[in-house]
Amino acid sequence: MAEPGYTVLARKYRPAKFADLVGQPHVVKALSNAINTNRVAQAFLFTGSRGTGKTSSARILASALNCLERKPGEFEPCGKCASCRDIARSEDLDVVEMDAASNSRVDDVRERLESVETRPARGKFRIFIIDEVHMLSTSAFNALLKTIEEPPPHVKFILATTNPEKIPETILSRCQRYDFRRVTLSEIVAWLEAICAKENLQPKDGVLRAVAEMAEGGMRDALGKVDQLVAFSGAKPGLEDAERVFGLIGRAKLLELLTALAGGDARAGILFAEEVFDSGKDVAEVLASLVGLARTLLLVAAGGADTRGIDVPENELPALRQVAQAYGIHGLVYLAELLTDCRQRVRRAAFPRVLVETTLVKLSMVGRLEPLEALLARLDEVSDAPVSEVINNITPAARERSPQEPKPAQNAPATGGSERPLSAREKTALDAVKRQFGAT
Ligand SMILES: Nc1ncnc2c1ncn2[C@@H]1O[C@H](COP(=O)(O)OP(=O)(O)O)[C@@H](O)[C@H]1O
Ligand SMILES: [Mg+2]
Ligand SMILES: [Zn+2]
Repeated sequence: MAEPGYTVLARKYRPAKFADLVGQPHVVKALSNAINTNRVAQAFLFTGSRGTGKTSSARILASALNCLERKPGEFEPCGKCASCRDIARSEDLDVVEMDAASNSRVDDVRERLESVETRPARGKFRIFIIDEVHMLSTSAFNALLKTIEEPPPHVKFILATTNPEKIPETILSRCQRYDFRRVTLSEIVAWLEAICAKENLQPKDGVLRAVAEMAEGGMRDALGKVDQLVAFSGAKPGLEDAERVFGLIGRAKLLELLTALAGGDARAGILFAEEVFDSGKDVAEVLASLVGLARTLLLVAAGGADTRGIDVPENELPALRQVAQAYGIHGLVYLAELLTDCRQRVRRAAFPRVLVETTLVKLSMVGRLEPLEALLARLDEVSDAPVSEVINNITPAARERSPQEPKPAQNAPATGGSERPLSAREKTALDAVKRQFGAT
C-alpha cells in the first residue's frame, strides 16, 4: 500500500521533545519540574490508552536525563547530541527498551536486568523502559520487583501500560504514576491539520474531524487513518472518500435516522440496519459514530444555550437541538445506554444483525416511554395507598420493623437460595424513587 521508503506519519512525527507532546500538559509540567529541580523518581509508570504518547514520553524523558548538551535549568533534550540521536533510534547502550508483550517470561526480564549494576556507558543513567509491562508473568514481575525495590542510584525505570489494573500492588507502590489522557477531538484535529500542511495534503472540509472522531483520543490511530485515506484517495481526500474507505456513515444521515426513530418510525431502524449490513460497512464503527452522536445530543440537551464542549460545526446545531428535544433528556439517556451496550456486544454477538435491529426498534419506542416519576405520580392517583408508603414497606428498614412478615426471599422465585441483592439498575431506580418520596 505504502510506497517504498515511505515512513508512516505516526513514526515520522513521533514527538522528540516535551513541547511536541499534544494534550498531556499535566505530564509535561510534572516531568519538566522534576528534571529542572533534579528530583527525578527512580521508577515511573505511564498509563493510558493506546497512542496517547506513553512510549514517546518514556524516550523523551530518557533523552532529557542523559542528554549531553542539556544545561542546568533546562528540561528539554537537545535532540542533536550523540545520546539523543541514539535514543531516538532505539540504539543507545544506556537505554534498554523491552517490550513485555513479546518478552513476558522471567528469563527475559532477568536477561535484561543482568546489567543493572553496570555503570552507564556514556550518560548519567542506565534507563530501563518496559513497554506493555502488564504482560509480564508473575515470576517476571517478582524478578522486576527485586530490582525496583532497591535499584542502584544510576538506574531509572520507566514502565508503560494500557492496563494498570493488571500490575501488582507491590510494583505500583514503587512507581510514580502518570495517567495519559485521551487526546481531545479538537487537539487531534489541530495536530492533523499541522501535519497535513507540512505534508502538502489538502483534505476537504470535515475530513480530519471524521478521522479524529474515529480515533477516540488516540493520536497514533488518527495518523494511521490519514495514511490509509491518502493511500486510497490521494492528497485531497473528501468526506465521501473517508466514508467509503472507513465504511462510515455521515452525521447528516445518522441524524436523519435518529429523527425518524424519535418519531416512532421502527421501519427506519430496520432499513438502516439492512443498509449497514448489506453494504459491508463496519457495524462497530457505525455504532461508535451513533454513540458519539448520542453523547453530543446529551450535551446539547443538558447545556441549553451553552455550547461549550460540543464538538460539532455551528451550522449543525439547530438540527441537533431538534432531535434532542424530540427525545427529551430521559429518552437521550436511554438512547445512549442502549447504543453503548449494543456497540459493546456487537462484535461478539452470534447474530449481530438482530442485535442492531432490536436496538434500533427499541429506540423507536422511546417516545412512548414515560419517565419513572410520571409513572409513579399516575400510580399514586389510582392506588389507595400513596406509593411512598408502598415503597417504605419494601425497604430493609421497614422489614426489620415488622418481623412477623415473611421474608421476601421466601416468596421470591428461586434465585439461588439466599436473598437476591438488588442489581445496579434496581438500586438506581429505588434510590430515585426514595428521593422522590423522601423515604430513607
Ligand atoms: N500526545 C501525543 N502527541 C503527539 N503525537 C502523539 C501523541 N501520542 C501519540 N502520538 C503519535 O502516535 C505515535 C505513537 O505514540 P506512542 O508514544 O508510541 O503511544 P503509546 O505508547 O501511548 O501507545 C507517535 O509516534 C506519535 O506520532
Ligand atoms: Mg507504546
Ligand atoms: Zn541531547
